[in-house]
Amino acid sequence: MPAQRASHPVFARYYARVSLAMDKGGMAAHRRQLLAGLAGPVIEVGAGNGLNFAHYPADVTRVLAIEPDPHLREIASRNAAQAPVPVGVCGGVAAGLPADDGTFDGAVTAFVLCSVPDQHAALREIHRVLRPGGVLHFLEHVRASTPVLRRVQRLADVTIWPALAGGCRTSRDTAAAIQAAGFTIGQLEPFRFPDPGLTMPATPHVRGIATRNP
Ligand SMILES: C[S@@+](CC[C@H](N)C(=O)[O-])C[C@H]1O[C@@H](n2cnc3c(N)ncnc32)[C@H](O)[C@@H]1O
Repeated sequence: MPAQRASHPVFARYYARVSLAMDKGGMAAHRRQLLAGLAGPVIEVGAGNGLNFAHYPADVTRVLAIEPDPHLREIASRNAAQAPVPVGVCGGVAAGLPADDGTFDGAVTAFVLCSVPDQHAALREIHRVLRPGGVLHFLEHVRASTPVLRRVQRLADVTIWPALAGGCRTSRDTAAAIQAAGFTIGQLEPFRFPDPGLTMPATPHVRGIATRNP
């Protein structure tokens, strides 16, 4: 696999704006549902500009938010200061999380497993820093269920999409990768986002909860 950068400065500036519009368009409700039920110490991988922070439930005792891009990390740090639970933001990448084994009760990814260069390496690290029985809450756009859209996704992934979208790949079977990394998926909700309108390569989404196997 070719080396890929974790920081994409142009995309980061674009995402800092478009993510606010997505939240207004309904994604904030998905973020709230994503984080519901979390408790104890939590690690959020690829926290971006920190749009999840406002939605952490009170049972979460602290969040360690990892974000490799300096621009997004700066915005995330400002959002951390307004969060309802303690949030610490630091640099790092998913394939080498700055935490000891079994530290966290929960882990969160939102639109990150599409962007990491190596999904398995990222998920192996999340597995390592979760305690046995800990939970991964994930919100990701994923491989389509129809052959035609899958073909479009594969084409997008080998042409312009990753360059435009910060290294994102649209055709990843993320639920299968989560299970292959030693998790059992207990909840998996497929949905389209945005729901009405034109189907794009990144339209099929899932929100789910997976438990770390012992
Ligand atoms: C589409 S943004 C999503 C940001 C945020 N999670 C959200 O929900 O809005 C993708 C994020 O993944 C981060 N990212 C990319 N490669 C990464 C890596 N190797 N390790 C950790 N985060 C990464 C990017 O910097 C960016 O913040």
